Amino acid sequence: MTDGPVLVTGGGGQLASDLEDQLGRLGVEVHARARSELDITDDRTVADTFARLRPTVVFNCAAFHNVDVCEGEEDRAFEVNTRAVKRIAERCEAHGATLIHLSTNYVFDGSATEPYGELDRPSPRSVYAISKLGGEHAALAYAPGALVVRTAGLYGRFGSASKGGNFVVRMIGRAREQRKLSVVADQRLSPTYTTDLAAALIQAVDRGVNGLLHITNGGDCSWYEFTRGILELAAIDVPLEPVATVVPEGGADRPLNGVLARPRADAAGLAELRPWRDALADYMLSAGLTPAAAR
Ligand SMILES: NC(=O)c1ccc[n+]([C@@H]2O[C@H](COP(=O)([O-])OP(=O)(O)OC[C@H]3O[C@@H](n4cnc5c(N)ncnc54)[C@H](OP(=O)(O)O)[C@@H]3O)[C@@H](O)[C@H]2O)c1
Repeated sequence: MTDGPVLVTGGGGQLASDLEDQLGRLGVEVHARARSELDITDDRTVADTFARLRPTVVFNCAAFHNVDVCEGEEDRAFEVNTRAVKRIAERCEAHGATLIHLSTNYVFDGSATEPYGELDRPSPRSVYAISKLGGEHAALAYAPGALVVRTAGLYGRFGSASKGGNFVVRMIGRAREQRKLSVVADQRLSPTYTTDLAAALIQAVDRGVNGLLHITNGGDCSWYEFTRGILELAAIDVPLEPVATVVPEGGADRPLNGVLARPRADAAGLAELRPWRDALADYMLSAGLTPAAAR
């Protein structure tokens, strides 16, 4: 991977935790910093961290990504997702560090009938998505060797603390509590296991790939189908109702078609990630969320 130190921002988050775990097992000197230790909007702390650690690779996993809350907190969204990324990119460039920055399928408005490739034109329709697109541009413009990876529907072993657990855990909890669920069936995506994504990011860095890539688990589904898969694997039998997307007053628009194609990742020779359902089954077994795991 690299002989030098690796800095991971957003430590304790889903993806950051898997990166920390996998890099550590590869023998890499990895420094994952939680927001309490390294707030990426605090320029002085960022500067000090770079000066002290002298990282050769930086994974920026920190983000303000509560999509609905971002609608009402535009300044914070742009501060974390755009402006801080510009400053991190500048620092990476100045220190000769490779920047890997994460972005989202939400940069597309979802009106296309086919999956979106890396070269398709973004058309973000929420404050979150616009701020993330700004972050992509900042990363690529200010750290020319940067790798920007768009992904979708993340869940992982370490949960998403800022959202009260990941989608899988939330759906299982709600199903047990409410004994029925309604889930949108008209928004499609490729749910992605952060363990698989972390491995793919490490592979991309190893191969020296830069620019923009789309990386998700394989295949696609609606949130309704994803939830059906979760309930089946958890052996929870409750009524599951497919519903249509309704954007509430002041809420965020989400793309109906949030499926990403990966022609650039394929051209770079990166391995495809396994189908989303296989990854989900693996995650749920290892997280003790299936009856088989309980035996
Ligand atoms: N989750 C998804 O479904 C999804 C989908 C597509 C793309 N992405 C992108 O993938 C990346 C990783 O997402 P994830 O799911 O791993 O997120 P996550 O689990 O929520 O982790 C993000 C981390 O960033 C931290 N953070 C927030 N503001 C910060 C700041 N100012 N300085 C430092 N750290 C800060 C959060 O801390 P607190 O918990 O204290 O706020 C959290 O630990 C993000 O760029 C996200 O936009 C995520």
